[in-house]
Amino acid sequence: MSQIIPVEPFDYVVFGGTGDLAERKLLPALYHRQLAGQLTDPTRIIGASRAEMDDEAYRDFARAALNEHLKSEEIDAGAVDQFVARLHYVSVDARSDRGWSELKALLGDGTDRVRSFYLAVGPGLFGDISERIRANGLVTEQTRIVVEKPIGRGLESARVLNRTIGEVFNEEQIFRIDHYLGKETVQNLMALRFANALYEPLWNSAHIDHVQITVAESVGLEGRAGYYDKAGALRDMVQNHLVQLLCLVAMEPPASMDAEAVRDEKLKVLRSLKPITEVNADAVTVRGQYKAGASAGGAVKGYLEELEGGVSDTETFVAIRADIENWRWSGVPFYLRTGKRLSERMSEIVVAFKPIPHSIFGTSAGRVTANKLVMRLQPDEGVKQWIMIKDPGPGGMRLRHVSLDMSFADRFEVRNPDAYERLLLDVIRCNQTLFMRRDEVEAAWTWIDPILKAWTETGQSVQPYTAGTWGPSQAIALIERDGRTWHESD
Ligand code: BG6
Repeated sequence: MSQIIPVEPFDYVVFGGTGDLAERKLLPALYHRQLAGQLTDPTRIIGASRAEMDDEAYRDFARAALNEHLKSEEIDAGAVDQFVARLHYVSVDARSDRGWSELKALLGDGTDRVRSFYLAVGPGLFGDISERIRANGLVTEQTRIVVEKPIGRGLESARVLNRTIGEVFNEEQIFRIDHYLGKETVQNLMALRFANALYEPLWNSAHIDHVQITVAESVGLEGRAGYYDKAGALRDMVQNHLVQLLCLVAMEPPASMDAEAVRDEKLKVLRSLKPITEVNADAVTVRGQYKAGASAGGAVKGYLEELEGGVSDTETFVAIRADIENWRWSGVPFYLRTGKRLSERMSEIVVAFKPIPHSIFGTSAGRVTANKLVMRLQPDEGVKQWIMIKDPGPGGMRLRHVSLDMSFADRFEVRNPDAYERLLLDVIRCNQTLFMRRDEVEAAWTWIDPILKAWTETGQSVQPYTAGTWGPSQAIALIERDGRTWHESD
Protein backbone atom coordinates (compact mmCIF):
# COMPACT_ATOMS: atom_id res chain seq x y z
CA MET A 1 0.00 0.00 0.00
CA SER A 2 1.27 3.49 -0.76
CA GLN A 3 1.39 5.81 2.18
CA ILE A 4 -0.89 8.85 2.05
CA ILE A 5 0.40 11.89 3.88
CA PRO A 6 -2.23 14.66 4.11
CA VAL A 7 -1.10 18.05 2.82
CA GLU A 8 -1.69 21.31 4.64
CA PRO A 9 -4.79 23.30 3.65
CA PHE A 10 -4.57 25.36 0.48
CA ASP A 11 -6.46 27.57 -1.93
CA TYR A 12 -5.82 26.57 -5.56
CA VAL A 13 -6.97 29.28 -7.96
CA VAL A 14 -7.19 27.78 -11.43
CA PHE A 15 -7.17 30.40 -14.19
CA GLY A 16 -8.68 28.69 -17.21
CA GLY A 17 -10.87 26.87 -14.69
CA THR A 18 -13.44 25.94 -17.34
CA GLY A 19 -10.85 25.02 -19.96
CA ASP A 20 -9.76 21.73 -21.42
CA LEU A 21 -6.84 21.11 -19.06
CA ALA A 22 -8.90 21.81 -15.93
CA GLU A 23 -11.66 19.55 -17.19
CA ARG A 24 -9.52 16.63 -18.37
CA LYS A 25 -6.63 16.70 -15.92
CA LEU A 26 -6.68 19.15 -13.01
CA LEU A 27 -10.14 18.51 -11.55
CA PRO A 28 -9.87 14.70 -11.90
CA ALA A 29 -6.38 14.79 -10.33
CA LEU A 30 -7.52 16.87 -7.35
CA TYR A 31 -10.59 14.65 -6.95
CA HIS A 32 -8.31 11.61 -6.71
CA ARG A 33 -6.36 13.29 -3.93
CA GLN A 34 -9.66 13.93 -2.15
CA LEU A 35 -10.58 10.28 -2.58
CA ALA A 36 -7.23 9.24 -1.14
CA GLY A 37 -7.88 11.40 1.91
CA GLN A 38 -5.02 13.76 1.23
CA LEU A 39 -6.91 17.07 1.20
CA THR A 40 -7.45 18.70 4.56
CA ASP A 41 -9.99 21.35 5.61
CA PRO A 42 -10.43 24.19 4.78
CA THR A 43 -8.88 23.49 1.36
CA ARG A 44 -10.64 25.21 -1.54
CA ILE A 45 -10.31 25.01 -5.31
CA ILE A 46 -11.37 28.17 -7.07
CA GLY A 47 -12.14 28.12 -10.77
CA ALA A 48 -11.47 31.43 -12.48
CA SER A 49 -12.24 32.34 -16.05
CA ARG A 50 -14.19 34.85 -18.08
CA ALA A 51 -17.36 32.76 -18.31
CA GLU A 52 -20.25 33.92 -16.11
CA MET A 53 -21.08 31.15 -13.66
CA ASP A 54 -21.83 30.72 -9.97
CA ASP A 55 -20.39 28.17 -7.54
CA GLU A 56 -23.22 25.72 -8.13
CA ALA A 57 -22.81 25.80 -11.90
CA TYR A 58 -19.07 25.23 -11.49
CA ARG A 59 -19.74 22.26 -9.23
CA ASP A 60 -22.01 20.83 -11.92
CA PHE A 61 -19.27 21.43 -14.47
CA ALA A 62 -16.82 19.53 -12.25
CA ARG A 63 -19.23 16.63 -11.68
CA ALA A 64 -19.65 16.31 -15.44
CA ALA A 65 -15.87 16.46 -15.92
CA LEU A 66 -15.32 13.65 -13.42
CA ASN A 67 -18.01 11.50 -15.00
CA GLU A 68 -16.52 12.07 -18.43
CA HIS A 69 -12.86 11.57 -17.62
CA LEU A 70 -12.76 8.97 -14.85
CA LYS A 71 -13.60 5.30 -14.95
CA SER A 72 -16.90 4.46 -13.26
CA GLU A 73 -15.11 2.45 -10.56
CA GLU A 74 -13.11 5.56 -9.63
CA ILE A 75 -16.26 7.54 -8.84
CA ASP A 76 -17.27 7.42 -5.20
CA ALA A 77 -20.44 9.43 -4.62
CA GLY A 78 -19.39 10.52 -1.11
CA ALA A 79 -15.94 11.64 -2.23
CA VAL A 80 -17.44 13.50 -5.20
CA ASP A 81 -19.76 15.41 -2.85
CA GLN A 82 -16.90 16.29 -0.52
CA PHE A 83 -14.78 17.33 -3.46
CA VAL A 84 -17.31 19.59 -5.16
CA ALA A 85 -18.08 21.23 -1.80
CA ARG A 86 -14.50 22.55 -1.96
CA LEU A 87 -15.12 24.21 -5.32
CA HIS A 88 -15.85 27.90 -5.85
CA TYR A 89 -15.96 30.03 -8.93
CA VAL A 90 -15.14 33.63 -9.77
CA SER A 91 -15.66 35.22 -13.14
CA VAL A 92 -12.43 37.12 -13.76
CA ASP A 93 -11.05 38.87 -16.80
CA ALA A 94 -7.25 38.65 -17.10
CA ARG A 95 -7.17 41.82 -19.20
CA SER A 96 -9.43 44.11 -17.19
CA ASP A 97 -10.35 44.79 -13.56
CA ARG A 98 -13.51 42.72 -13.85
CA GLY A 99 -13.82 40.15 -11.08
CA TRP A 100 -10.53 40.85 -9.27
CA SER A 101 -12.08 42.45 -6.20
CA GLU A 102 -14.46 39.46 -5.92
CA LEU A 103 -11.48 37.11 -6.10
CA LYS A 104 -9.66 39.13 -3.47
CA ALA A 105 -12.71 39.07 -1.17
CA LEU A 106 -13.07 35.31 -1.59
CA LEU A 107 -9.39 34.66 -0.85
CA GLY A 108 -9.37 36.86 2.25
CA ASP A 109 -6.06 37.43 3.95
CA GLY A 110 -5.21 33.73 3.48
CA THR A 111 -2.38 33.65 5.98
CA ASP A 112 -3.59 30.32 7.38
CA ARG A 113 -2.93 28.37 4.19
CA VAL A 114 -0.90 27.94 1.03
CA ARG A 115 -2.17 29.94 -1.93
CA SER A 116 -1.46 28.67 -5.39
CA PHE A 117 -2.34 30.21 -8.75
CA TYR A 118 -2.45 27.75 -11.64
CA LEU A 119 -2.27 29.42 -15.06
CA ALA A 120 -4.00 26.88 -17.30
CA VAL A 121 -4.23 29.55 -20.00
CA GLY A 122 -2.21 30.52 -23.06
CA PRO A 123 1.19 32.11 -22.36
CA GLY A 124 -0.13 35.37 -23.82
CA LEU A 125 -2.00 35.87 -20.53
CA PHE A 126 0.83 34.97 -18.10
CA GLY A 127 2.03 38.58 -17.87
CA ASP A 128 -1.44 40.12 -17.46
CA ILE A 129 -2.48 37.68 -14.78
CA SER A 130 0.78 37.92 -12.81
CA GLU A 131 0.59 41.68 -12.90
CA ARG A 132 -3.02 41.76 -11.67
CA ILE A 133 -2.25 39.25 -8.93
CA ARG A 134 0.37 41.67 -7.68
CA ALA A 135 -1.67 44.83 -8.21
CA ASN A 136 -4.53 43.36 -6.21
CA GLY A 137 -2.23 42.43 -3.34
CA LEU A 138 -2.91 38.70 -3.68
CA VAL A 139 0.65 37.51 -3.08
CA THR A 140 1.04 36.17 0.45
CA GLU A 141 4.13 34.65 2.02
CA GLN A 142 2.91 31.19 1.07
CA THR A 143 1.94 31.97 -2.53
CA ARG A 144 3.10 29.97 -5.55
CA ILE A 145 2.36 30.20 -9.24
CA VAL A 146 2.18 27.28 -11.66
CA VAL A 147 2.68 27.77 -15.39
CA GLU A 148 2.03 25.30 -18.15
CA LYS A 149 4.08 24.91 -21.29
CA PRO A 150 4.60 26.30 -23.87
CA ILE A 151 6.99 28.64 -22.12
CA GLY A 152 7.77 30.68 -25.21
CA ARG A 153 8.12 29.88 -28.88
CA GLY A 154 11.86 30.19 -28.72
CA LEU A 155 14.62 31.46 -26.48
CA GLU A 156 13.75 35.14 -26.79
CA SER A 157 10.05 34.78 -25.98
CA ALA A 158 10.84 32.32 -23.15
CA ARG A 159 13.17 34.92 -21.65
CA VAL A 160 10.48 37.58 -21.87
CA LEU A 161 7.93 35.30 -20.18
CA ASN A 162 10.37 34.29 -17.46
CA ARG A 163 11.25 37.92 -16.86
CA THR A 164 7.58 38.97 -16.73
CA ILE A 165 6.63 36.30 -14.20
CA GLY A 166 9.89 36.88 -12.35
CA GLU A 167 8.94 40.52 -11.75
CA VAL A 168 6.10 39.37 -9.50
CA PHE A 169 7.32 36.05 -8.08
CA ASN A 170 10.65 34.71 -6.81
CA GLU A 171 12.08 31.69 -8.61
CA GLU A 172 11.21 29.50 -5.55
CA GLN A 173 7.55 30.45 -6.00
CA ILE A 174 7.43 29.63 -9.74
CA PHE A 175 6.52 26.07 -10.73
CA ARG A 176 6.99 25.37 -14.45
CA ILE A 177 5.17 22.14 -15.17
CA ASP A 178 6.41 19.44 -17.49
CA HIS A 179 3.89 16.71 -16.75
CA TYR A 180 6.24 14.00 -18.06
CA LEU A 181 8.36 14.52 -14.94
CA GLY A 182 5.38 13.52 -12.81
CA LYS A 183 4.88 10.20 -14.58
CA GLU A 184 5.47 7.22 -12.34
CA THR A 185 7.98 5.47 -14.59
CA VAL A 186 9.95 8.63 -15.19
CA GLN A 187 10.62 8.79 -11.49
CA ASN A 188 11.32 5.11 -11.55
CA LEU A 189 14.14 5.90 -13.90
CA MET A 190 15.79 7.80 -11.06
CA ALA A 191 15.12 4.91 -8.67
CA LEU A 192 16.55 2.43 -11.16
CA ARG A 193 19.69 4.46 -11.73
CA PHE A 194 20.38 5.70 -8.23
CA ALA A 195 18.86 3.13 -5.88
CA ASN A 196 20.65 0.18 -7.50
CA ALA A 197 24.37 -0.41 -7.64
CA LEU A 198 23.91 -2.56 -10.72
CA TYR A 199 23.51 -0.05 -13.53
CA GLU A 200 25.50 3.02 -12.65
CA PRO A 201 28.97 1.47 -13.24
CA LEU A 202 27.80 0.54 -16.77
CA TRP A 203 26.03 3.82 -17.46
CA ASN A 204 28.58 5.39 -19.80
CA SER A 205 30.15 5.24 -23.23
CA ALA A 206 32.34 2.27 -22.33
CA HIS A 207 29.28 0.02 -21.99
CA ILE A 208 26.33 1.75 -23.65
CA ASP A 209 26.09 1.77 -27.43
CA HIS A 210 23.18 4.18 -27.78
CA VAL A 211 19.90 5.30 -26.23
CA GLN A 212 16.48 5.58 -27.87
CA ILE A 213 13.64 7.72 -26.55
CA THR A 214 10.28 7.26 -28.26
CA VAL A 215 7.09 9.11 -27.37
CA ALA A 216 4.53 7.88 -29.88
CA GLU A 217 0.91 9.00 -29.92
CA SER A 218 -1.94 7.52 -31.90
CA VAL A 219 -4.11 10.65 -31.57
CA GLY A 220 -4.14 13.47 -34.08
CA LEU A 221 -4.93 17.12 -33.49
CA GLU A 222 -7.83 16.62 -31.06
CA GLY A 223 -9.30 20.02 -31.82
CA ARG A 224 -6.05 21.86 -31.01
CA ALA A 225 -5.19 22.84 -34.58
CA GLY A 226 -4.95 26.55 -33.71
CA TYR A 227 -2.18 25.93 -31.18
CA TYR A 228 -0.52 22.91 -32.77
CA ASP A 229 -0.08 24.24 -36.26
CA LYS A 230 1.92 27.16 -34.87
CA ALA A 231 3.96 24.90 -32.58
CA GLY A 232 4.74 21.60 -34.31
CA ALA A 233 6.22 18.49 -32.71
CA LEU A 234 9.65 20.00 -31.99
CA ARG A 235 8.22 22.78 -29.81
CA ASP A 236 5.26 20.79 -28.47
CA MET A 237 7.08 17.62 -27.40
CA VAL A 238 10.84 17.66 -27.95
CA GLN A 239 11.76 20.99 -26.32
CA ASN A 240 10.19 19.86 -23.08
CA HIS A 241 9.15 16.22 -22.61
CA LEU A 242 11.78 14.39 -24.69
CA VAL A 243 14.62 16.67 -23.67
CA GLN A 244 13.67 16.22 -20.01
CA LEU A 245 13.71 12.44 -20.41
CA LEU A 246 17.11 12.67 -22.07
CA CYS A 247 18.38 14.71 -19.12
CA LEU A 248 17.22 12.14 -16.59
CA VAL A 249 18.93 9.33 -18.49
CA ALA A 250 22.14 11.26 -19.06
CA MET A 251 22.66 13.37 -15.94
CA GLU A 252 25.40 12.70 -13.41
CA PRO A 253 24.17 11.36 -10.07
CA PRO A 254 22.97 14.38 -8.10
CA ALA A 255 24.15 14.56 -4.49
CA SER A 256 20.53 14.31 -3.31
CA MET A 257 16.96 14.55 -4.54
CA ASP A 258 17.02 18.17 -3.53
CA ALA A 259 15.53 20.31 -6.30
CA GLU A 260 18.63 22.37 -6.94
CA ALA A 261 20.91 19.31 -6.94
CA VAL A 262 18.78 17.53 -9.57
CA ARG A 263 18.24 20.59 -11.71
CA ASP A 264 21.91 21.55 -11.64
CA GLU A 265 22.75 18.14 -13.13
CA LYS A 266 20.05 18.36 -15.81
CA LEU A 267 21.28 21.80 -16.77
CA LYS A 268 24.80 20.46 -17.35
CA VAL A 269 23.40 17.90 -19.79
CA LEU A 270 21.42 20.55 -21.65
CA ARG A 271 24.52 22.67 -21.97
CA SER A 272 26.51 19.70 -23.33
CA LEU A 273 24.14 18.96 -26.22
CA LYS A 274 25.95 19.21 -29.51
CA PRO A 275 24.45 22.06 -31.53
CA ILE A 276 22.39 21.14 -34.56
CA THR A 277 22.68 23.82 -37.22
CA GLU A 278 22.25 24.19 -40.97
CA VAL A 279 25.53 22.29 -41.34
CA ASN A 280 24.20 19.01 -39.89
CA ALA A 281 20.41 19.38 -39.50
CA ASP A 282 19.68 17.47 -42.66
CA ALA A 283 21.80 14.51 -41.52
CA VAL A 284 20.54 14.28 -37.93
CA THR A 285 16.91 15.43 -38.02
CA VAL A 286 13.78 14.24 -39.83
CA ARG A 287 10.50 16.13 -40.00
CA GLY A 288 7.30 14.33 -40.90
CA GLN A 289 3.61 15.06 -41.41
CA TYR A 290 0.86 12.44 -41.44
CA LYS A 291 -1.44 11.83 -44.33
CA ALA A 292 -4.70 9.92 -44.27
CA GLY A 293 -4.50 6.34 -43.05
CA ALA A 294 -5.88 4.07 -40.37
CA SER A 295 -5.44 4.51 -36.65
CA ALA A 296 -7.05 2.73 -33.70
CA GLY A 297 -8.88 0.52 -36.16
CA GLY A 298 -10.57 3.25 -38.18
CA ALA A 299 -9.85 5.47 -41.16
CA VAL A 300 -8.44 8.84 -40.16
CA LYS A 301 -7.88 12.09 -42.02
CA GLY A 302 -4.48 13.46 -42.90
CA TYR A 303 -3.08 16.49 -41.07
CA LEU A 304 -3.86 18.92 -43.84
CA GLU A 305 -7.45 17.73 -44.05
CA GLU A 306 -7.81 18.32 -40.30
CA LEU A 307 -6.66 21.90 -40.72
CA GLU A 308 -9.13 24.43 -41.94
CA GLY A 309 -6.66 26.13 -44.25
CA GLY A 310 -5.36 22.87 -45.67
CA VAL A 311 -1.81 24.13 -46.28
CA SER A 312 0.93 23.72 -43.72
CA ASP A 313 4.56 22.75 -43.36
CA THR A 314 4.20 22.03 -39.63
CA GLU A 315 5.82 18.78 -38.49
CA THR A 316 3.66 16.25 -36.66
CA PHE A 317 6.65 13.92 -36.34
CA VAL A 318 10.27 14.50 -35.57
CA ALA A 319 13.28 12.22 -35.20
CA ILE A 320 16.65 13.50 -34.05
CA ARG A 321 20.06 12.07 -33.38
CA ALA A 322 21.29 14.03 -30.36
CA ASP A 323 24.86 13.89 -29.13
CA ILE A 324 26.05 14.86 -25.68
CA GLU A 325 29.53 16.26 -25.67
CA ASN A 326 30.97 15.24 -22.32
CA TRP A 327 33.18 12.48 -20.93
CA ARG A 328 30.39 10.11 -20.00
CA TRP A 329 28.51 10.17 -23.31
CA SER A 330 31.03 10.98 -26.00
CA GLY A 331 30.22 8.80 -29.03
CA VAL A 332 26.86 7.54 -27.63
CA PRO A 333 23.99 8.84 -29.77
CA PHE A 334 20.59 9.53 -28.22
CA TYR A 335 17.92 8.90 -30.86
CA LEU A 336 14.71 10.79 -30.12
CA ARG A 337 11.43 10.39 -31.97
CA THR A 338 7.90 11.54 -31.38
CA GLY A 339 4.84 11.93 -33.51
CA LYS A 340 1.08 12.07 -33.77
CA ARG A 341 -1.02 9.44 -35.53
CA LEU A 342 1.65 6.80 -35.15
CA SER A 343 1.00 3.11 -34.99
CA GLU A 344 0.18 3.07 -31.27
CA ARG A 345 0.41 5.13 -28.09
CA MET A 346 3.69 4.07 -26.63
CA SER A 347 6.47 5.82 -24.79
CA GLU A 348 9.69 4.12 -23.89
CA ILE A 349 13.35 4.61 -23.21
CA VAL A 350 15.71 1.97 -24.53
CA VAL A 351 19.26 1.77 -23.25
CA ALA A 352 21.17 -0.44 -25.70
CA PHE A 353 24.36 -1.90 -24.26
CA LYS A 354 27.46 -2.72 -26.29
CA PRO A 355 27.90 -6.25 -27.63
CA ILE A 356 30.11 -8.71 -25.78
CA PRO A 357 33.76 -8.31 -26.79
CA HIS A 358 34.20 -11.95 -27.85
CA SER A 359 31.88 -14.94 -28.18
CA ILE A 360 33.03 -18.31 -26.88
CA PHE A 361 30.03 -19.99 -28.53
CA GLY A 362 30.18 -21.53 -31.97
CA THR A 363 27.92 -20.47 -34.81
CA SER A 364 25.47 -23.29 -34.01
CA ALA A 365 24.63 -21.50 -30.74
CA GLY A 366 23.05 -18.68 -32.69
CA ARG A 367 23.66 -14.98 -32.56
CA VAL A 368 24.61 -13.31 -29.30
CA THR A 369 22.42 -10.21 -29.11
CA ALA A 370 23.50 -7.24 -27.03
CA ASN A 371 21.69 -6.45 -23.75
CA LYS A 372 18.99 -3.83 -23.63
CA LEU A 373 17.20 -2.14 -20.78
CA VAL A 374 13.72 -1.00 -21.79
CA MET A 375 11.77 1.36 -19.58
CA ARG A 376 8.15 1.56 -20.66
CA LEU A 377 6.55 4.86 -19.60
CA GLN A 378 3.09 4.18 -21.01
CA PRO A 379 0.93 2.23 -21.40
CA ASP A 380 1.75 -0.96 -19.37
CA GLU A 381 4.39 0.76 -17.26
CA GLY A 382 7.31 -1.47 -16.48
CA VAL A 383 10.93 -2.39 -17.00
CA LYS A 384 12.40 -5.12 -19.16
CA GLN A 385 15.99 -6.22 -19.06
CA TRP A 386 16.89 -8.16 -22.20
CA ILE A 387 19.56 -10.79 -21.61
CA MET A 388 20.97 -13.90 -23.31
CA ILE A 389 20.23 -17.30 -21.81
CA LYS A 390 20.65 -20.90 -22.87
CA ASP A 391 17.62 -22.18 -24.70
CA PRO A 392 16.17 -24.69 -22.20
CA GLY A 393 16.17 -28.38 -23.07
CA PRO A 394 18.52 -31.18 -24.01
CA GLY A 395 20.73 -31.05 -27.01
CA GLY A 396 23.46 -28.62 -27.92
CA MET A 397 24.12 -25.19 -26.56
CA ARG A 398 21.75 -22.78 -28.21
CA LEU A 399 21.31 -19.22 -27.04
CA ARG A 400 18.20 -17.14 -26.75
CA HIS A 401 17.48 -13.42 -26.20
CA VAL A 402 14.77 -13.10 -23.53
CA SER A 403 13.46 -10.39 -21.25
CA LEU A 404 13.31 -10.25 -17.48
CA ASP A 405 9.96 -8.58 -17.36
CA MET A 406 8.61 -6.40 -14.59
CA SER A 407 5.17 -5.04 -15.27
CA PHE A 408 4.23 -2.62 -12.50
CA ALA A 409 0.52 -3.33 -12.94
CA ASP A 410 1.07 -7.07 -12.37
CA ARG A 411 3.53 -6.65 -9.54
CA PHE A 412 1.78 -3.96 -7.49
CA GLU A 413 -1.83 -3.51 -6.70
CA VAL A 414 -1.79 0.24 -6.43
CA ARG A 415 -3.37 2.46 -9.04
CA ASN A 416 -0.87 4.33 -11.14
CA PRO A 417 -1.54 7.99 -10.28
CA ASP A 418 -1.80 10.51 -13.07
CA ALA A 419 1.25 12.79 -13.28
CA TYR A 420 -0.85 15.82 -12.32
CA GLU A 421 -1.85 14.27 -8.99
CA ARG A 422 1.71 14.30 -7.79
CA LEU A 423 2.70 17.60 -9.39
CA LEU A 424 -0.31 19.59 -8.15
CA LEU A 425 0.46 18.60 -4.58
CA ASP A 426 4.22 19.03 -4.98
CA VAL A 427 3.36 22.69 -5.54
CA ILE A 428 1.58 22.77 -2.18
CA ARG A 429 4.49 20.93 -0.55
CA CYS A 430 6.79 23.46 -2.22
CA ASN A 431 8.90 20.71 -3.75
CA GLN A 432 10.50 21.95 -6.97
CA THR A 433 12.41 18.75 -7.88
CA LEU A 434 10.03 17.76 -10.70
CA PHE A 435 9.61 21.27 -12.11
CA MET A 436 11.76 23.11 -14.61
CA ARG A 437 13.97 25.91 -13.45
CA ARG A 438 14.23 29.11 -15.47
CA ASP A 439 17.76 28.39 -16.73
CA GLU A 440 16.75 24.84 -17.76
CA VAL A 441 13.92 26.09 -19.95
CA GLU A 442 16.20 28.64 -21.52
CA ALA A 443 19.00 26.09 -22.07
CA ALA A 444 16.53 23.73 -23.79
CA TRP A 445 15.51 26.53 -26.14
CA THR A 446 19.16 27.34 -26.77
CA TRP A 447 19.49 23.85 -28.27
CA ILE A 448 16.13 23.90 -30.07
CA ASP A 449 16.31 27.37 -31.64
CA PRO A 450 19.16 26.56 -34.08
CA ILE A 451 17.26 23.45 -35.24
CA LEU A 452 14.22 25.58 -36.09
CA LYS A 453 16.46 28.10 -37.78
CA ALA A 454 18.28 25.40 -39.76
CA TRP A 455 14.97 23.94 -40.98
CA THR A 456 13.91 27.36 -42.23
CA GLU A 457 17.23 28.25 -43.76
CA THR A 458 17.83 24.97 -45.52
CA GLY A 459 14.16 24.59 -46.47
CA GLN A 460 14.01 21.11 -44.89
CA SER A 461 10.46 20.13 -45.65
CA VAL A 462 8.16 17.65 -43.93
CA GLN A 463 8.21 14.06 -45.18
CA PRO A 464 4.76 12.53 -45.51
CA TYR A 465 3.88 9.37 -43.57
CA THR A 466 0.70 7.38 -43.53
CA ALA A 467 -1.31 7.67 -40.31
CA GLY A 468 -0.99 4.46 -38.29
CA THR A 469 2.63 3.79 -39.23
CA TRP A 470 5.90 4.55 -37.41
CA GLY A 471 6.61 7.76 -39.31
CA PRO A 472 8.47 8.56 -42.50
CA SER A 473 11.00 6.10 -43.89
CA GLN A 474 13.68 8.78 -43.48
CA ALA A 475 13.40 8.25 -39.70
CA ILE A 476 14.31 4.60 -40.17
CA ALA A 477 17.18 5.60 -42.43
CA LEU A 478 18.38 8.10 -39.79
CA ILE A 479 19.22 5.33 -37.33
CA GLU A 480 20.09 2.64 -39.89
CA ARG A 481 22.77 4.84 -41.41
CA ASP A 482 24.56 4.37 -38.07
CA GLY A 483 24.15 0.58 -38.27
CA ARG A 484 21.34 0.48 -35.66
CA THR A 485 17.58 -0.05 -35.71
CA TRP A 486 14.64 1.30 -33.74
CA HIS A 487 13.69 -1.10 -30.97
CA GLU A 488 10.48 -2.97 -31.73
CA SER A 489 8.52 -3.46 -28.55
CA ASP A 490 6.90 -6.84 -28.15
C1 BG6 B 1 1.28 17.61 -24.23
C2 BG6 B 1 1.28 17.97 -25.68
O1 BG6 B 1 2.26 18.35 -23.54
O2 BG6 B 1 1.54 16.22 -24.08
C3 BG6 B 1 0.27 17.14 -26.45
O3 BG6 B 1 0.98 19.35 -25.83
C4 BG6 B 1 0.48 15.67 -26.18
O4 BG6 B 1 0.34 17.41 -27.84
C5 BG6 B 1 0.59 15.38 -24.69
O5 BG6 B 1 -0.60 14.96 -26.75
C6 BG6 B 1 0.99 13.95 -24.43
O6 BG6 B 1 0.89 13.66 -23.05
P1 BG6 B 1 0.61 12.17 -22.54
O7 BG6 B 1 0.70 12.29 -21.05
O8 BG6 B 1 -0.75 11.81 -23.02
O9 BG6 B 1 1.67 11.31 -23.12
